[in-house]
Amino acid sequence: MEGEGKGLTLQLMMAVGTAVIGSLQFGYNTGVINAPQKIIEGFLNDTWNSRYSEPIPTTSLTTLWSISVAVFSVGGIFGSFSVGLFVNRLGRRNSMLIANVLAFIAAGFMGFSKLAASWEMLIIGRFVVGLYSGLSTGFVPMYVGEIAPTSLRGALGTLHQLGIVLGILMAQVFGIESIMGNSTLWPFLLGFTFIPAMLQCILLPFCPESPRFLLINRNEELKAREVLEKLRGTEEVGADMQEMKEEARQMMREKKVTILELFRSPLYRQPIFIAVMLQLSQQLSGINAVFYYSTRIFEKAGVSQPVYATIGAGVVNTAFTVVSLFVVERAGRRSLHLTGLLGMAFSAVLMTIAMALLDQLPWMSYVSIVAIFSFVAFFEIGPGPIPWFIVAELFSQGPRPSAFAVAGFSNWSANFIVGLTFQYVEQLCGPYVFIIFTVLLLGFFIFTYFKVPETKGRSFDEISAGFRHEAGQSGEKYTADEMNSLGGADSQL
Ligand code: GLC
Repeated sequence: MEGEGKGLTLQLMMAVGTAVIGSLQFGYNTGVINAPQKIIEGFLNDTWNSRYSEPIPTTSLTTLWSISVAVFSVGGIFGSFSVGLFVNRLGRRNSMLIANVLAFIAAGFMGFSKLAASWEMLIIGRFVVGLYSGLSTGFVPMYVGEIAPTSLRGALGTLHQLGIVLGILMAQVFGIESIMGNSTLWPFLLGFTFIPAMLQCILLPFCPESPRFLLINRNEELKAREVLEKLRGTEEVGADMQEMKEEARQMMREKKVTILELFRSPLYRQPIFIAVMLQLSQQLSGINAVFYYSTRIFEKAGVSQPVYATIGAGVVNTAFTVVSLFVVERAGRRSLHLTGLLGMAFSAVLMTIAMALLDQLPWMSYVSIVAIFSFVAFFEIGPGPIPWFIVAELFSQGPRPSAFAVAGFSNWSANFIVGLTFQYVEQLCGPYVFIIFTVLLLGFFIFTYFKVPETKGRSFDEISAGFRHEAGQSGEKYTADEMNSLGGADSQL
């Protein structure tokens, strides 16, 4: 890889590593509620019984359970939409620091809900940790994107997703009955979220503020240079400074861009449309149908140890995120996203065939495991990591916070919809439910092919210049391929 080793300093690793603790929290709380479902339902029943002296009716149980699961994404929707309120006032690093207050509050509510015999506390805790996670999905990729050198922006950006998948895996493993997924320890399993929060609070003060924020938003040139020298491990940061100043000049013209302006201005319409579509392609691929309901899907597919198959999916998920991390700077974002979407569509077809034929051919249960594993693997090649960090790449400093708010809002809303409706749609469609995702995946493939430009190896300024050019007065329209050639030698597929 060109520039390999160059730019990857200890200071940079430490800053990125500390930031992605926020991603780990998001992943952990995504995965934590899957395995101990039965146990927590037992708690809901006991609490109901002690309040009303009768067992909980099934419909109330389903409702309380669904609320406890889904309220996390509702928190995520609000949190991600509020990103812009924090990052320009407090800075990127301090926003991450302050957000931990939410993680502590959430840990308290969830961890003591059993002691207090209160499902209300459980639900409030899930909502608050959702708020925290929503904020993290904006803060972390923004901070990482802004401190990374251009040649490593994709690889370091993928670490956000790696944090998420490690969090999911940890939650799956800790949720095993013999570890913490039992009726005594489940409050610890949920309250555990305060440990990464503490760790992040200790480490963040040692991490620098984003030099882009210091220079462009605060006009503190000396400080920005100082931070940049530390992050890059060299005093020769002239090129980086120059690029940031160019962005600052651009921002003087743009001022602060509100969410509405993102949609009104022809300058931003194209990139915001791409950002939103990429978020939707991530969530409407059906990935969380697997991560929320994998145990049930495996059960239906005739797998005898569904919990272990779920953990297997978590391992594959992590392994392929690492693969993506190593290839993203070579293969580029566009080709990996396309490969991922197509591979997922193929896996979804395989899964449908396996489920449909299960009654006649019992060995189809193995095929369905392979299909789910490959579905997850292809997801992590592109659609998992790329949508998160590409938002930072598609926008310059002025519109970036608003763009993150809109992108995050779209992602979390789609996440909420899939989480809430999948079980009902599955009841309607039976084994053919994944055909819906296949159609969506193919649609997103076509969109990506025609509309998404390559951003690999191009500076933020070059990328936005490409979009400015496209929105130029001439009214000329460029295809994604033509856009690629606008931004630099390295940008062709
Ligand atoms: C992405 C998605 C998240 C999903 C995870 C699975 O980060 O945003 O919703 O659970 O990938 O690895």
